Amino acid sequence: MVDSHQPLKKFSWRCPSNIAIVKYWGKKGNQIPCNASLSMSLTHSFSEVTLELFDKKSKEDVELNYFFEGKKNPLFEDRLRKYLKEQKADFPFVKDQAVTIHSHNSFPHSAGIASSASAFGALALSLSEAALTYFTKEKDFLQNASRLARLGSGSACRSVYPRFALWGKIKNVPASSDQFAIPVTTIHNNFKNLQDAILIIDNKPKKVSSTVGHSLMKNHPFAKKRFAQANDRASRLLQILANGDLQEFISITESEALTLHAMMLTSDNYYILMKPGTLLAIEKIMSFRRETQIPVCFTLDAGPNVHVLYPESDKKAVNEFLNSNFKKGIKEILFDKLGNGPQKLKC
Ligand code: PMV
Repeated sequence: MVDSHQPLKKFSWRCPSNIAIVKYWGKKGNQIPCNASLSMSLTHSFSEVTLELFDKKSKEDVELNYFFEGKKNPLFEDRLRKYLKEQKADFPFVKDQAVTIHSHNSFPHSAGIASSASAFGALALSLSEAALTYFTKEKDFLQNASRLARLGSGSACRSVYPRFALWGKIKNVPASSDQFAIPVTTIHNNFKNLQDAILIIDNKPKKVSSTVGHSLMKNHPFAKKRFAQANDRASRLLQILANGDLQEFISITESEALTLHAMMLTSDNYYILMKPGTLLAIEKIMSFRRETQIPVCFTLDAGPNVHVLYPESDKKAVNEFLNSNFKKGIKEILFDKLGNGPQKLKC
């Protein structure tokens, strides 16, 4: 007798989160970015997704069960159902098979790390692998997974690659695209083991979502200039990653972080996601750099937490500085680093 609880097929992927150095902020159409962005994939902050396919029991378009950390999650299940319906041409198995998805993160839910990038990355990889049975060509597997991840959550498209990824069409990179991210392959030794210590200043859910933030760029007085600036910086950052210029890296990285928040501060419906602790941390990092000449810098996501970036060669000194200055007064420090990209897991 066939065990009805035994899946017909099972696929499982781990995918890291990423932090943008050049920020994506503003979108149009179906998750098309208004400017190019360039990010680093992390190592320890990841999501793992297991996708199971069963015989369908109902006539529903999409028969889906979604569990986050072992518990049914109806809110995300609805978002996923909509995603699978919209992308049905890419996922033909959904017509005949019921889908069960289990997902969990390596980092606490409250850590303020963007879980949608790693979760949609891992999901898109698992779903793309399931779809390979239908589309025989494995060529461009990652590129296709990147496109599908983008349709779930924009920045997720950059998470499917190791190290650094570029998303968005820029003039001097013919392979670049608005539809999917591409890997950055020429990386100087200075950046190969880049560290990222995440200072958790505040772990409450943010008051204004990224979706609202992106939409506020539609009528933003500085939008045109900002989009051109980001494209220019993405292309300069590609050169910097190749030539190892740490000072130029610092100046683009920090200005991008502040520009992202400046866009929030200057939109018609202005808002502030930084906290006093964010500014305090930034000041301390800048003074430490001035005093020690260590090439350490900060970046921010759309939230109050501070990512501290530094080469591996300065890890001892910077970690000592972080531990002695930030152990008290902030929630937590998560020590992460540049990562080797997603991993297919044994089922
Ligand atoms: O992927 P979304 O829609 O959550 O937008 C992410 C935007 C930022 O994290 C602020 C910047 C980026 O490029 O990741």
